[in-house]
Amino acid sequence: MSIVILISGRGSNMRALLEAGLPVAAVIADRAEAPGLRYAREQGVATELIDYRDSAYAVRSAFDAALAGAIDRYAPKAVALAGFMRLLTPGFVERYAGCLLNIHPSLLPAFPGLRTHARALAAGVKVHGCTVHFVTAALDSGPIVIQAAVPVHASDDEHSLAARVLQAEHRIYPLAVRWFLAGRLEIADGTVKVAGEAQQWAFAA
Ligand code: GRF
Repeated sequence: MSIVILISGRGSNMRALLEAGLPVAAVIADRAEAPGLRYAREQGVATELIDYRDSAYAVRSAFDAALAGAIDRYAPKAVALAGFMRLLTPGFVERYAGCLLNIHPSLLPAFPGLRTHARALAAGVKVHGCTVHFVTAALDSGPIVIQAAVPVHASDDEHSLAARVLQAEHRIYPLAVRWFLAGRLEIADGTVKVAGEAQQWAFAA
């Protein structure tokens, strides 16, 4: 029983999943320069590159088909998106429905999409955070597994707030994946219940 992690960049969430000792079968990146790829290789984890700039993948469905082929070779129980910057086709999302997880740097449903920290600051929210959710076809809107909240300080800028949220991400993503692999997550009516767990949120300073 294993997971495959998809990354595009730094890969700090990938690293948190690896450091938590989760069974990671492979890390797949959509660009060769993703720093996370190097770290995964150094850890002896299998890596794959499906380069989104490859002309063979000019059509998005072709990219997704190649990605699915690479994932399925490892027959993972779950696929964890960790800073993966491609929008996935509905067909791809459907293929992995119920076993495709994502971490998003906001308290969804607030601030879906990009530049969440800047938008949170501009909105003047006093509490911000992150969300692990199942992926559905609509952007950043699938059933929520766990959230962590962090305070927004008056002195924060985008970077200080992002750093505080990122620490919380590293706490909750391994937890969510562990729950999933243990078969403890049940999706009903668009919401997630965790068997035996009263609390699906965390506060981080
Ligand atoms: C994280 O903030 C994650 O929530 C978002 O993209 C960022 C990826 O960071 N989806 P990293 O590559 O895991 O360090």
